[in-house]
Amino acid sequence: MNVPLIEDAAHAHLSYRDNYTAGTIGDIGCFSFFPTKVMTTGEGGVISTNNQKYYEKIKSLKNFGRDNGDANIIINPEGNNFKINEFTGLLGSIECDRVISRIKKRTDLLERYYNNLKNTEYSVIKQSGDGRCSYYKAIVKTPINSLWLKKYCKNNDITLTGEVYKIPIHLQYLYKKDFSYVNLPNTDYYCNYHICPPLYPELTFKEVDYICDILKQALIDYEKQNR
Ligand SMILES: Cc1ncc(COP(=O)(O)O)c(C=O)c1O
Repeated sequence: MNVPLIEDAAHAHLSYRDNYTAGTIGDIGCFSFFPTKVMTTGEGGVISTNNQKYYEKIKSLKNFGRDNGDANIIINPEGNNFKINEFTGLLGSIECDRVISRIKKRTDLLERYYNNLKNTEYSVIKQSGDGRCSYYKAIVKTPINSLWLKKYCKNNDITLTGEVYKIPIHLQYLYKKDFSYVNLPNTDYYCNYHICPPLYPELTFKEVDYICDILKQALIDYEKQNR
């Protein structure tokens, strides 16, 4: 069976590992430009493919389903207006110029989290081997339930970002009717025992140090509370 592989590379801009570059592994790669992403145009995204047939079809679909050679002919009834406007395009162009340096800043900040927390019970997930991670998020495995930790951080003026994810897909409203019987203990555990502290290029090392100090103090206070 010839099933095309569509790769969700939503927040993996410019990430690669060995010979694999995100968005080029499958037949089609999809990247998001939503504001929380590594590069943004406010909304929208980009599709990558090296398959001429898919390229032609996608190009037509975003342009009302028009034929690519003759705009008078509609060939794809499911076409729509998926074009971005020029202001958005300009923003995207600026983002292209600065995305590498912004990923570099994210990487340095992630390294700071890693070094600050490496001798603790937290575990900061970072890129290993030959490659580049865009570090859309800093993901930290924690021995403390993330809800408790989130509240603790909030009380210390730190807003943790959303987890990936708090509710796993088999327990989401749309799927739980059919799949809630599935037993996925590792997934359940991981959802409850990881946090995503702030990670964006404007953050300073000093702020990361403060966040890490609070996270370390949280371990001590949690222990005291639950003794
Ligand atoms: C893995 C993944 N895929 C897709 C999306 C959706 O991207 P968009 O909002 O651009 O449709 C997101 C958004 O966070 C995501 O995390």
